[in-house]
Amino acid sequence: MFEIRITERVHQLIQPYIQSGDVVLDATMGNGNDTLFLAKSVGNHGLVFSFDIQKQAIEATRNQLIENQYDKLFLIQKDDQFKKMPSEEGIYLLNHSHENIDLIPIEQLAKEQKISCILFNFGYLPGGDKTITSHSHVSLEAVKKSLCLVKEKGIVSLVTYPGHAEGQIEDLAIEHLLSGLSSKYFEILKISYVNRSERAPKQYLIYKLRGDWYV
Ligand SMILES: C[S@@+](CC[C@H](N)C(=O)[O-])C[C@H]1O[C@@H](n2cnc3c(N)ncnc32)[C@H](O)[C@@H]1O
Repeated sequence: MFEIRITERVHQLIQPYIQSGDVVLDATMGNGNDTLFLAKSVGNHGLVFSFDIQKQAIEATRNQLIENQYDKLFLIQKDDQFKKMPSEEGIYLLNHSHENIDLIPIEQLAKEQKISCILFNFGYLPGGDKTITSHSHVSLEAVKKSLCLVKEKGIVSLVTYPGHAEGQIEDLAIEHLLSGLSSKYFEILKISYVNRSERAPKQYLIYKLRGDWYV
């Protein structure tokens, strides 16, 4: 249990908030580790929507899911019309930026208070092009939308990487946003290493206490 990566800690911390059959979102698909964790957590009757701007990430995630015997996979390209509720349970891999996280079917599921968990693991694709990274203005927009979409008693988890220049700007912007949110609506924890550099990754865990919060 010791010496595990921050992303695995995230999984341990959020696991109790995800039930079989839930609807969950991975806003930064990357190599698919978080998507695979979410798929396992919601089981065969759940719905997973995962976003990434890079085709390489979608391909890596798709391969990882196939290796793990997941076959209900649906690829949604930028130009695809994705306006109706999907009729099938499964895993939807969307080649979309997460600022569009409130696509029509997802908004509809949010209105029905069905989305229990949204994950963000910011930064660049490990093993990919480091210049393609998340950017604070887009990240803030996506996080604000996620706080609206997640259901009452649901959870939003953010991992930031202040070790690179854009990641540091993003981390500061996110902490600024979160510190201004009312404790009547959200319980927000920041998890950071006390015996490592300030540049080490950080996690923010946001529990939504009440459903009637909108930006
Ligand atoms: C650190 S990786 C995510 C790791 C991933 N969750 C995993 O389990 O392997 C960050 C990912 O965020 C993606 N990303 C950056 N900006 C994005 C955006 N605006 N919308 C969606 N994905 C974005 C990058 O392409 C990259 O693949």
